[in-house]
Amino acid sequence: MELQLVNIHHAFGEEKDRQKVVNGVDLHLQQGEFVSLIGPSGCGKSTLFNLISGLEVPDEGDILFNNQDVKGKRGNISYMMQKDLLFPWKTVLENVLLGATITKQNYQSAREEALSLFPLFGLEGYENYYPTVLSGGMKQRAALLRTFLHKKQLLLLDEPFGALDALTREKMQEWLLNIWSQMRRTVLFITHSIDEAIFLSDRIYVLSPRPTEVIEEFSVGLSRPRSKDVTLSPEYIQLKEKLMKSLYQ
Ligand SMILES: Nc1ncnc2c1ncn2[C@@H]1O[C@H](COP(=O)(O)OP(=O)(O)O)[C@@H](O)[C@H]1O
Ligand SMILES: [Mg+2]
Repeated sequence: MELQLVNIHHAFGEEKDRQKVVNGVDLHLQQGEFVSLIGPSGCGKSTLFNLISGLEVPDEGDILFNNQDVKGKRGNISYMMQKDLLFPWKTVLENVLLGATITKQNYQSAREEALSLFPLFGLEGYENYYPTVLSGGMKQRAALLRTFLHKKQLLLLDEPFGALDALTREKMQEWLLNIWSQMRRTVLFITHSIDEAIFLSDRIYVLSPRPTEVIEEFSVGLSRPRSKDVTLSPEYIQLKEKLMKSLYQ
């Protein structure tokens, strides 16, 4: 098992203002899986990512990464935060290299690798531009490229397409699946779109409102590679009904 969360509890604030956010979450990921967390706004999804990445330490429970305890330990995973902004004063290339530079990789080889991936990420020709000239989709792809270049097996992606218009978002989902199948990383993905979760995932955890816990887990049996046609299939629609019942119960 690549990642395991065992009975995680977490609260914020001091004593009487203490607010419980995570209420006994268990979840797991196998290497190479694409798993989504879906749950209402404010339930504690980003908090879970902060706990997994070691930015926060849980009050209770265990976080195991390849069977090692990683509570409060950083540097094991690549994390694209919900507000993962590009620095406006750095070029697109400089922005995508931030993760790589921080881990003190050889700068030249990191740069060459980044450049070689610009076409795959739909950013060819924009290497030396500043982020302001990029479209919303391109900005998200640049932030994703930075996350991929961080080179960890496990990627945490927190609502990467949340701010995009519907059509761009659907294109980005197909594009992400293509990248994921080529790069063979393990992905834990936060969304509050049922369609996005089904289209992308091998499995989906439905989370309750705050304080959050896992309500239900679903396997997505749809074959891969997937195209948007799959959203018209009876299997897809059946699963969507089940997820709606689970999420809105
Ligand atoms: N560092 C923090 N300090 C205090 N409260 C926080 C902190 N981070 C998150 N929260 C609170 O925890 C709850 C869950 O937030 P979050 O995990 O961001 O939800 P989601 O990502 O599911 O929308 C919210 O009520 C939020 O205000
Ligand atoms: Mg969030």
